Amino acid sequence: MYLKNFDRFFSPLQWQIILTTAQIAHDLNLRAFAVGGIVRDAIVRENHPSPPLHKDLDLVFDGGEQAGMKVAIALHQLFPASKLQLHEKFQTAALSWQDADQDFEMDMATARREIYAYAGANPQVIATTLEDDLWRRDFTINALAIELDPQLGIKGEVIDRFQGLVDLANKQVRAIREGSFEEDPRRLFRAVRFAMRLDLEIATETYTEIIATTSSGIHDAIGGARLRSELLYTLAEPRAGAMFELLQKLGALRCIHPDLKLPKNLTNSFKHQWRRSQYWLHLLNQLENKTYAPLQLGLELLLSYLPHQIATQLDLGLAPEQKTRQIKLADLLINLPNLVSIGLKNSEITQNLQKFDTQTLILSGAKCEPAQRRILWRYLTQWQMVKSPLTGADLKQVGYATGKQMGEILQRLRFATIDREILTKEDAIVYLHTQE
Ligand code: CTP
Repeated sequence: MYLKNFDRFFSPLQWQIILTTAQIAHDLNLRAFAVGGIVRDAIVRENHPSPPLHKDLDLVFDGGEQAGMKVAIALHQLFPASKLQLHEKFQTAALSWQDADQDFEMDMATARREIYAYAGANPQVIATTLEDDLWRRDFTINALAIELDPQLGIKGEVIDRFQGLVDLANKQVRAIREGSFEEDPRRLFRAVRFAMRLDLEIATETYTEIIATTSSGIHDAIGGARLRSELLYTLAEPRAGAMFELLQKLGALRCIHPDLKLPKNLTNSFKHQWRRSQYWLHLLNQLENKTYAPLQLGLELLLSYLPHQIATQLDLGLAPEQKTRQIKLADLLINLPNLVSIGLKNSEITQNLQKFDTQTLILSGAKCEPAQRRILWRYLTQWQMVKSPLTGADLKQVGYATGKQMGEILQRLRFATIDREILTKEDAIVYLHTQE
């Protein structure tokens, strides 16, 4: 297969950078290849009338030790506005352009083999050929490459060692080789991400291998920054809810903890709860003029399906307030049925709920029964906003002294307003007289 019009995936400056990169590689007697997501997405979007511009480009250089770093250093000299990062040990470099009109990053790797001392360890890296480099990758659809050319940008013919093009056409996510998931548990999440994102099926033998890997328990409760970033990356996808349901089916949630079980009820599945929490968060961000972080809340929703004693101990970088929230959420969900069923006044419910922060209330709203959800929503959007019709200054004018007692009076007036016993300032004054 030939890829045409590759330049339409890039801005004019990005394309100029790519041409220059190809020229530098050529001058250094190296071969340069674009590999992975960029090639996959260019094929998927071949007939897209105006495809989105790419922000990341993964390049591989074949031709000896530190090939990627050598090109990156030379390119940085020609584009000094770029930021250069070198990772000598991994034989990779990154150049990034981040300003008002550029948001572009190029990963420039030496074609390499990675040797893992044990699963999940940082690999030892040895320079090798493009073929070997493609072999170490995850899925056939991600092992596609095109060679760069100093004049044309790319040579055009797609390098496809593992039938990735057939898999893409047949809508299959297929691991390149056995042992891939054992070696790197992040690939469990990646398989689901590509399947959902590109509307593909996980190939039968890959599915079977995933189940065998997860049920062996080898990745149980692995924790760590890499797992955390996979979780957040998955939560950022438009179909995150459905992705987590598929991850559960594959046993991949055991990476978080083997006891984690997401609900699958028809009307209250994790997918529904995820959507609900995001919707509430969006509305409340506007209403309260806040910026509650959606992905962090997603992570908390996920972890809330574990006993909080376990969730708070996991190595997933939860902030102290997020840990506290797990405990408070469990407490609220236990007490919520009482709050709704025993005929409390609106102000009494308010007094109970105001002990909880907005995120805890959103999370419980996402998880609870409809009747409880309605009460939480009324509290969040109405009752918690209600103020006393009289201010402290008004009370001073009619002779009340400032201090703790005044605070209590204002609170009483607020509760009476929530219960609609008073509505106006005049009602409030009459109410105070009747109370004396
Ligand atoms: N890769 C891999 N195993 C991983 C991570 C990455 O084999 N655990 C390889 C794949 O070939 C992938 C490439 O490295 O295509 C680049 O990785 P990344 O940028 O994370 O993925 P993309 O395929 O570019 O996907 P995305 O669109 O999500 O960035």
